[in-house]
Amino acid sequence: QSVSTRLKKDMIRGLGKHTHHRAPVKMLPTFVRATPDGTEKGDFLALDLGGTNFRVLHVRILEDEQRVVKMDSQICAIPQEIMLGHGEKLFDHIAACLAEFLDSHELKGQTLPLGFTFSFPCEQLDIDKSVLIRWTKGFNCSGVEGEDVVRLLREAIHRRGDYDIGSVAMVNDTVGTMMSCGYRDQSCEIGMIIGTGTNACYMEEMRNVKRVEGEDGRMCINTEWGGFGDDGSLRDIQTDFDLVVDKTSLNPGIHTYEKMISGMYLGEIARLVLVKLTEDKLLFDGQVSDALQTPGRFETRFISEIEDTGLENTQRILTELDLNWSLGDVRLVWLVCDTISTRSAQLCAAALATIANRIRNNRGLDHLKTTVGVDGTVFKKHPNFSQQLQATVRLLAPRCDITFLVSEDGSGKGAAMVTAVAQRLAMQMGGDV
Ligand code: GLC
Repeated sequence: QSVSTRLKKDMIRGLGKHTHHRAPVKMLPTFVRATPDGTEKGDFLALDLGGTNFRVLHVRILEDEQRVVKMDSQICAIPQEIMLGHGEKLFDHIAACLAEFLDSHELKGQTLPLGFTFSFPCEQLDIDKSVLIRWTKGFNCSGVEGEDVVRLLREAIHRRGDYDIGSVAMVNDTVGTMMSCGYRDQSCEIGMIIGTGTNACYMEEMRNVKRVEGEDGRMCINTEWGGFGDDGSLRDIQTDFDLVVDKTSLNPGIHTYEKMISGMYLGEIARLVLVKLTEDKLLFDGQVSDALQTPGRFETRFISEIEDTGLENTQRILTELDLNWSLGDVRLVWLVCDTISTRSAQLCAAALATIANRIRNNRGLDHLKTTVGVDGTVFKKHPNFSQQLQATVRLLAPRCDITFLVSEDGSGKGAAMVTAVAQRLAMQMGGDV
């Protein structure tokens, strides 16, 4: 409840014209003004950058069947040296992957509209103008922060000169997830990711979006809740382990909340706790293996595997980490993992409940019925994460009835959907597409 109260205040700071620049929760306008109404259709390209892989997709929206179909997709690896190298190299790589995809699917001659899911905090100036505020997760390319990502993409495509793209819509993965679920369920007004990183977006009343002109209607806000706590407001609940994870990360001091919740960090928190318990002679007879001493070696997926039924997984993983375990150790390791994943689910729930309560208050409703589109490996793969999260949301937002819709390929399909909705709105207003 206390975390939720703090976030509620920070969301208001993020939306305010004069408080935004100092606010840790950025509350970024997305220029997505409407969710799908079911009349969208056509063929689109989608790019998806920001999770574990980079993907190119060809997506078709079938109005008659009310379905978004992934026609084809291709995964391109992004080597570590590109993730940490110069931005121009990153965009050349993206343009090359897209070229290869268009070639192999005989799409090079067509100029299709493109939805670009770029899952990093961006100051969006319009649907096709989006300036990267800062890298998060494992990326740190020079020369991109402060630049318009759409321009960098177009320039890289022009440098090649062998194909072109149509109009571009920039989308955060949370927005893509909300929009792809929104075609199936038109009351989907929140998108949430709990994967490598964590974040959520929701439909806010325009009258509260003080940094964008206009009072009518709604706009989707990308909260970037991962940055919650960056001003020290969560210091009392951060543990020594959280402080080490932050200090040894690529971006110390940034995305405090995300570092307590998401897949990129949970395994490392667990490793640090296990090392400490071993040093205190509470585990493995006080013997730490080299593997357990190695940062990154205890992967987040181990937490899901350990908490899955039985103790066999735990025994296998501990053996793989060269640890000499007893049955008591196995139980204690399970308890450590359970504690870390439960904290993550409950923190996430506190944030989601804050958003749901805000939407209910915004609309002056006694009771809100809404749907959240969700994606991300932690939510999908962990055996009881989603149950824990839902139970805590019910406690913290008792007057909100929330349906969770797991998104299939939300970032890719959603990017196409955002592009399609933008086209529909432009047509309805009689403008050019
Ligand atoms: C990070 C990014 C955010 C993204 C989230 C989930 O928090 O800053 O933009 O939505 O990860 O991928």
